[in-house]
Amino acid sequence: MLLVTGGAGFIGANFILDWLARSDEPVLNLDKLTYAGNLENLAALEGDARYLFARGDVCDRALVDRLLAEHQPRAIVHFAAESHVDRSIHGPAEFLKSNVEGTFTLLEAARAYCAGLPEERRAAFRFHHVSTDEVYGALKPEDAPFTEAAPYAPNSPYSASKAASDHLARAWFKTYGLPVTVSHCSNNYGPFHFPEKLIPLLIVHALAGKPLPIYGDGAQIRDWLYVGDHCAAIRRILEAGIPGETYNVGGWNEMDNLSVTREVCAWLDRLSPRADGVSYARQITHVADRPGHDRRYAIDARKIARDLGWRPEETFASGLEKTTRWYLEHAQWVKNAQSGAYRAWVEKQYGKAL
Ligand code: NAD
Ligand code: TYD
Repeated sequence: MLLVTGGAGFIGANFILDWLARSDEPVLNLDKLTYAGNLENLAALEGDARYLFARGDVCDRALVDRLLAEHQPRAIVHFAAESHVDRSIHGPAEFLKSNVEGTFTLLEAARAYCAGLPEERRAAFRFHHVSTDEVYGALKPEDAPFTEAAPYAPNSPYSASKAASDHLARAWFKTYGLPVTVSHCSNNYGPFHFPEKLIPLLIVHALAGKPLPIYGDGAQIRDWLYVGDHCAAIRRILEAGIPGETYNVGGWNEMDNLSVTREVCAWLDRLSPRADGVSYARQITHVADRPGHDRRYAIDARKIARDLGWRPEETFASGLEKTTRWYLEHAQWVKNAQSGAYRAWVEKQYGKAL
């Protein structure tokens, strides 16, 4: 079986659902259920004997040891992390705890577990660490996209904490021979994305008639990848990735935030037009910029294409249409995700602007 951490979050939940749609290999999901963890994401697996859930913290060594001993996974897929840059600016401590100490705890537990495995199972074991392109820092307009050899230059508390966890993963491979693989993915979007991140926030705010907050001039560039393509890349790395290797995963789809916003508005205009017939783009509002805001990320995903044969299947248009339809069809999920705690966050982040 697989031990997946953070499986109640956006990408982890998509990964588990996709995995069990393709395989009968069971999954144990270890998740602390922070504000970002939502068991509703996995409601389709209720009663499915192939899916197990353990509520807990990846920093809890005794718990991780017990789960490894009891369930004997053949791999760990480590998603659990605090993941929102803006929250890391307001309160970095949780990021250090979950992202750095949490990864350290898992690596140590995996090392001890592996040492006790018979040779054949030890050789087959994998620890896949899910990282981000943000560890490489910001690119200038003329710079080439990030390859796996790009230097680390994290600029936010979030990316610094992810960079630290990457260094631990690397060291545990080099020093202890733990069979670690690492992936650096660009911005994901798709179903179950918590509406504090750009694309779901835009959809939810547009439909609620609220302003669409664009930080600064909106010319910041990200590479966008449909979440199902990211999950496919991780499956492929688990299958054929080489221990000690890192893989950059991206959509070959660089876009500035204003263009992304206009695309989201265009899909909503088609699928659920405003009563007055005016485009949702009318709701675009420029707000204060994010401190230390990275201007551009871009991923060179040639290595994973060449070595593992992975390429994204969705275009931005096809992925965004699916995503927009999903949010339109899941109004209750959105309502439930927007708890009191979420509303308090929106007030803290955007103040009176919204
Ligand atoms: P998310 O915030 O939606 O979900 C994170 C999940 O981890 C939640 O279910 C949460 O409860 C859980 N969690 C947090 N701290 C925990 C802890 N200490 N112990 C156990 N569980 C804990 O995040 P996401 O967007 O799904 O991202 C998943 C991973 O992918 C992260 O490691 C992130 O850095 C990485 N990543 C995300 C993106 C993106 O665009 N979202 C891109 C590249 C990489
Ligand atoms: P986000 O979804 O938070 O991902 P990340 O910061 O990890 O790239 O933000 C994506 C881009 O959108 C980023 O440049 C910040 C910008 N942004 C806004 O302009 N307004 C918003 O309300 C949010 C949440 C993000």
